[in-house]
Amino acid sequence: MAFEHEARKYDDWFLKNKNVLYSEVLLIKYFLDKYGVGRALSVGCGSALFESILRDDFNIRIEYCLEPAEGMARIAEERGFRVDRGVAENLPYPNEFFDTVIQNGIIHYVNDPRKTLEEAFRVLKHGGQIIIAWVAGESSYGILYQLAGVLGDWGALRRIAPKYPYPLEFIKEAKRWPTVEEVKELVESVGFGNIEFAQTLTMHPKYSNDLIEEPTEGYTKGDYVALRAVKP
Ligand SMILES: C[S@@+](CC[C@H](N)C(=O)[O-])C[C@H]1O[C@@H](n2cnc3c(N)ncnc32)[C@H](O)[C@@H]1O
Repeated sequence: MAFEHEARKYDDWFLKNKNVLYSEVLLIKYFLDKYGVGRALSVGCGSALFESILRDDFNIRIEYCLEPAEGMARIAEERGFRVDRGVAENLPYPNEFFDTVIQNGIIHYVNDPRKTLEEAFRVLKHGGQIIIAWVAGESSYGILYQLAGVLGDWGALRRIAPKYPYPLEFIKEAKRWPTVEEVKELVESVGFGNIEFAQTLTMHPKYSNDLIEEPTEGYTKGDYVALRAVKP
């Protein structure tokens, strides 16, 4: 399990790609600003790097964090978060408990995406929101990561890849790179409605760390996409 043993490497990579990190944080913030946060859960919070930036830079509090990988969870705790151990497919929370559930960058890694959405649906209050952010399979980053995974090495892609590419062990750990269409269909099939999209990282991956991007509505240009949906 790469996230178990290479937790620091994940953080180090993001900290070398700070503009990418902030562009992605702003994407999550986009929907939290628009609709509020309330009692919020971050599922697969990892090292809580995003949650710590939301808290420290923007005064947005994600109260509950859940993470299965001990190495990641410990870093999140060092950042001052209370982290419950567990998986997205079996959330240790009561029905209709949260206003917001965030799944940031986890859909690639979970065993059963449908079950994670059913669980998010269960723990959300009526009118509560889910925010799912991920590297869209059809995007430039999505294609690049799938290619690197198939090649098993960044070597042949060095000239076209970002200066500090996503470590291969995290790419190899991914089980899928779903498209926007696939995630939207899954979300709808579980019962969520009022689906909206926002996007960031609209430049070629090689240049995406040159500046911090403001998110925009939609999903046709951005490599990192957020879907926001509501439990009726
Ligand atoms: C790419 S990291 C994202 C971490 C964090 N959300 C972020 O955006 O920085 C993927 C995370 O998903 C977690 N993960 C893997 N399988 C999971 C599951 N079944 N349920 C919840 N989290 C899972 C990993 O341990 C890892 O921390």
